[in-house]
Amino acid sequence: MIPSSRAYWDPLWSNGRRYRQLATAETALLAEHLGPGNGRPALDIGSGDGALARHLHHQLGYRTTGIDCAPSAVALAAAQDIASGTNPTWRCGDITSGNLDALPDPAYAAITCRLVYRWMDDKPFFLDRVRQLLAPGGCFWVVTEIAGRRENTDRLKGLGITAAEAETLTAGWSVVRIADLDVFRCYALRP
Ligand SMILES: C[S@@+](CC[C@H](N)C(=O)[O-])C[C@H]1O[C@@H](n2cnc3c(N)ncnc32)[C@H](O)[C@@H]1O
Repeated sequence: MIPSSRAYWDPLWSNGRRYRQLATAETALLAEHLGPGNGRPALDIGSGDGALARHLHHQLGYRTTGIDCAPSAVALAAAQDIASGTNPTWRCGDITSGNLDALPDPAYAAITCRLVYRWMDDKPFFLDRVRQLLAPGGCFWVVTEIAGRRENTDRLKGLGITAAEAETLTAGWSVVRIADLDVFRCYALRP
């Protein structure tokens, strides 16, 4: 069983664990594949401290919601809201068990999921939920580590998804675009 729950993630965030920062190469790929938001809705799943949701909202112009199951991560994200202008909407909830109707929008032009897919216990079920939320013509952007790209001695070696998990991710989309970033792979998936 892969831990994808609040009980696993909340103490990590509150004890200071942080994940790889967004870098220019990654945000350039994001802009290239998603395009400008022009006020359309975006959803960042597993938004953590909110860096990607803020980027979508303030730099790319999406009206963004970030959802995360860890209350301490959501609090960290909300603490970085700016005083003037709009901010992303933050929701604390589990994307696999929560009520999708509780999200601010019924459908999203962009759904992002950075360093989260690997942790989804039931990946087909998770992907079904994403498909329910993705607007026609929308884009599902996934950033995930790929297995086999680290040295055997690297303690983070187990973080990559397997070839079978990658196949589950990419099956059933009409457009699949892939870009590699060292140990990561970015997927732009369209229905
Ligand atoms: C490795 S962190 C990545 C955080 C952020 N996306 C980033 O790139 O820094 C994984 C995040 O996914 C969240 N998460 C895991 N399972 C989740 C679920 N079922 N629903 C919502 N959030 C979840 C965790 O709380 C955690 O913040």
